[in-house]
Amino acid sequence: MDTLKRNFTALIATLVIVMIALAALSIVLAENAQAAEDQDFPVPVSVNALMVTMIDHSAHYIWDYAALEDMMLEEEWLAIEYYSIQLAAAGPLITLGGTGELDNAWSLSPQWLGYSMDMSNAAMKALNAARLQDKSLLQNAGDELLDSCLGCHRTFKPDTPTEGVIHDPFYDQLYHLFQREGSL
Ligand code: HEC
Repeated sequence: MDTLKRNFTALIATLVIVMIALAALSIVLAENAQAAEDQDFPVPVSVNALMVTMIDHSAHYIWDYAALEDMMLEEEWLAIEYYSIQLAAAGPLITLGGTGELDNAWSLSPQWLGYSMDMSNAAMKALNAARLQDKSLLQNAGDELLDSCLGCHRTFKPDTPTEGVIHDPFYDQLYHLFQREGSL
């Protein structure tokens, strides 16, 4: 009888410990889920700044090489690959808003999303062209890319950039680092 009682007590004690462990675990999991839900990690720069430092810059590599008459060198295709990846990722990035005064309003618009996707998709085509080293695919990608920039600018871009940051002349000396002797 005593043995039975002891076993029963041990069983209850074990169950209580398991329950406490499970309760503690569920508190930890709930806290983690809450932290993930509360995640507030806004884009710390403006759309205008991204346009000038990243989007315009990477797009120019694609256009300028697409327009190049000469045979392209291995590392030039590699440069296109590199900048196409940046540009493809910049598409979703600008749908997250930013610090510019209109950025968060723009990013709520379905049209904004559409143009951002067009830009990103065109960049993926440029990436594919670079991997295949196919000039005419690169030119098609460049045309599609231009349509996405112009479409969005026609719809959203104020005549004067909201923060006054324009491509010219701020970062211009950083352009065309790839420039070859006697070309472009
Ligand atoms: C989804 C919309 C959208 C797309 C796509 C887009 N832009 Fe923009 N861009 C804007 C907006 C809006 C501004 C103005 C931002 C401001 O004033 O705060 C801007 C500003 C700029 C600027 C700085 C202003 C200036 O006049 O110099 C440059 C450069 C630029 N974009 C280049 C490009 C290029 C190149 C592409 C395509 C590869 C592109 N943009 C694609 C919306 C877009």
